Amino acid sequence: MDLQGKKIVLGLTGGVACYKAAELCRSLVKQGASVQVVMTEAATHFIGAVTMQALSGHTVYTDQWDPRVDNNMAHIDLTRDADAILIAPCSTDFLRKLAHGACDDLLSTLCVARPRRLPLHIAPAMNVEMWENPATQRNVAQLRQDGVSIFGPAAGAQACGETGFGRMLEAEELLDELVAAFQPKSLAGKRVLITAGPTFEPIDPVRGITNLSSGKMGYAVARAAREAGAEVVLVSGPTALAAPHGVRRIDVQSAQQMHDAVMAHVHGQHVFIGVAAVADWRVVNASAQKMKKTADAIPQLEFAQNVDILAAVAATTSLSGWPYCVGFAAESENLIEFGAVKRERKGIPLLVGNIGPQTFGQDDNSVILFDEAGHTVLPRADKLTLARQLISEIAKRIDERSLLT
Ligand code: CTP
Repeated sequence: MDLQGKKIVLGLTGGVACYKAAELCRSLVKQGASVQVVMTEAATHFIGAVTMQALSGHTVYTDQWDPRVDNNMAHIDLTRDADAILIAPCSTDFLRKLAHGACDDLLSTLCVARPRRLPLHIAPAMNVEMWENPATQRNVAQLRQDGVSIFGPAAGAQACGETGFGRMLEAEELLDELVAAFQPKSLAGKRVLITAGPTFEPIDPVRGITNLSSGKMGYAVARAAREAGAEVVLVSGPTALAAPHGVRRIDVQSAQQMHDAVMAHVHGQHVFIGVAAVADWRVVNASAQKMKKTADAIPQLEFAQNVDILAAVAATTSLSGWPYCVGFAAESENLIEFGAVKRERKGIPLLVGNIGPQTFGQDDNSVILFDEAGHTVLPRADKLTLARQLISEIAKRIDERSLLT
């Protein structure tokens, strides 16, 4: 549970996207957060306070002059032990109020009166013209400068019938953004390129050779890198997973395509992490048409070795020292010995070893980090926890390296 023990003030302002706030509230609670909902009067026209109260399990406040508040200090008391404020949806007008420090209802007053340590996040939701209006953009720029984080908005079809930027992010995406906001920004300003999943080597247009990699570890690493503040490109073989929010995914099938996509993006990267289970061989006599089954002929496949993507990236580092290269290795035996040897053979500073293939497709894992100083065990945990630990280890190492160069 990523938000265990966190106290979140969830502010709702007027907009159709209030319907998504109900789902969001539920997701926050499911992740262990205690949610205090505060609504503007406009928000109550779109969704009932009773609904939000039932979902959050706490009294919902909508009015600065609520007679239930003994000391009339709800605008102070509601934020004093909070860990974050999230305004979702945030209307055009509420965004304006925040940018100007207005205090004319409970929610805006509470935002202005928040302790300086308390992060304020907003999820804009409005018509595309309202979002693109220069006045709104000025207010957004001002809020960014004031340290407010802006989640979204996304582009797409809008409730008003128009299309463009202004759609509020989905509840799941907002949850990811909020969880990310609590993670240390150890890779802020860094660019990270990651491979994930299996590759698929065609035999003919409908058949091919692949492996059991689910992509879960690579996707978790991509998510963790993005949470740490990096700009992330994920080159992915075929998987059933959705790209983590905010990560740019490039879909490929074969090892050669993965290599080409990686080499097209490697320039300017600070970190390369090869998590993909890349096929070592490809079929050189693949058929352009579907092979037909005939009684007397069993197809004979011929193989050629695939290019080693990690080695190719590692070879580019000789000039600038970047990107910092990290490999993964799944070994079925002798992990300690094979891991150390493989790191040296690949010519990379860090290799993450795990015992496979039984970890493929699982939600948790235990890994060993091999570097020039030896090896360190990261004990069994879910893949996202391990990915966050790995990202923090990488960040430490590249900081040390930057100091030396
Ligand atoms: N890798 C790669 N390109 C390949 C093969 C592997 O980039 N053609 C990368 C993987 O993404 C992983 C690392 O190399 O980060 C190790 O992969 P692994 O299959 O364990 O290593 P191999 O070099 O293929 O060694 P072996 O199969 O002999 O264990």
